[in-house]
Amino acid sequence: MSTDATLVFATSDKGGTGRSVTSCNVAYRLCLRGLDVAYVDFDFGSPTAGALFEIGGAERGVTEGQGLHSYLLGETGEPQRLIISRETDRAQLRRATPGAGRLVLLPGDVGGAEFGCDEAIVARAVALLANLLSEFAVVIVDLSAGRSAALEIALWATASTMPARRAQHWLVFHRWTREHVLAAGGLVHGPHGLIQTGALFGHDREELLASTRCVRTAVAGSDRTRTMDPAQAAWLNEQSKALRELATAEGIGAAMVLGQTPIEPMLQWREQLILDADVNARLADLATVEAYTDLARRLTDSATWDIE
Ligand SMILES: Nc1ncnc2c1ncn2[C@@H]1O[C@H](COP(=O)(O)OP(=O)(O)OP(=O)(O)O)[C@@H](O)[C@H]1O
Ligand SMILES: [Mg+2]
Repeated sequence: MSTDATLVFATSDKGGTGRSVTSCNVAYRLCLRGLDVAYVDFDFGSPTAGALFEIGGAERGVTEGQGLHSYLLGETGEPQRLIISRETDRAQLRRATPGAGRLVLLPGDVGGAEFGCDEAIVARAVALLANLLSEFAVVIVDLSAGRSAALEIALWATASTMPARRAQHWLVFHRWTREHVLAAGGLVHGPHGLIQTGALFGHDREELLASTRCVRTAVAGSDRTRTMDPAQAAWLNEQSKALRELATAEGIGAAMVLGQTPIEPMLQWREQLILDADVNARLADLATVEAYTDLARRLTDSATWDIE
């Protein structure tokens, strides 16, 4: 196993938080920096990562019993891998970028459903992740929303020394709204949440918390208030302040935040990678790409995780 490989779990309490879109864009930014990245679709109830990467025929997972569902259930020894630059329908993604790393998707099975968490499944997850970590610099695992079997499998699989605890990171994605902040706080600190469930499987609470960060998605920029009615702008500023206070009270305040993404018009219409070409064509905002680049940098910066 490569000693400096990084394992990232993407979680959220609610669905539709931007967990997958943000994670795949961060994966892409890491790959542009020359890192080999594996994107692992553990969203068992809705394995649609293929759609994000625009892989025709794999938008809802793969057929032939070669996806992650089949692998984890012991029905195939080797889950299918899709090399994005080869399989994507997006012409700009197929062009080789000098210095870029490999970006590989491990998709779920078409029609695959949620399943439970038992010792055999976890053993297969451990073998899979160890194998990927020996080959890729970063492995990003997109987990089903909520207190799911996927989250349990991930926590159980990583509770021992696989990989070194300091090289595993847990990201909790949430929208910047009252309900989402409450939900995300609950997922981190609440009953049956990340820390409590992790501790049950043998994780050290302090270490697990130290390897957890939140990502606030689609946050409205304060510049928007300039064009608003003053009453509306004042109300929004008040709400922003209240949200910051709520996040702190919920234990997911500024110190726990890895970063945030702005509202991106392209993503309001379509789940996809935002390429530099999209910014150059003025289809996407530069601030969006900057946010993903920043998240990618912080994720792999040891200073983020207080690692000497
Ligand atoms: N920064 C953004 N600005 C605007 N829309 C966004 C942004 N990020 C994500 N979205 C949109 O929000 C929706 C939900 O995002 P996504 O599918 O990534 O969430 P998710 O948490 O993975 O959801 P699920 O639980 O269904 O898997 C998508 O339509 C996506 O395009
Ligand atoms: Mg998703």
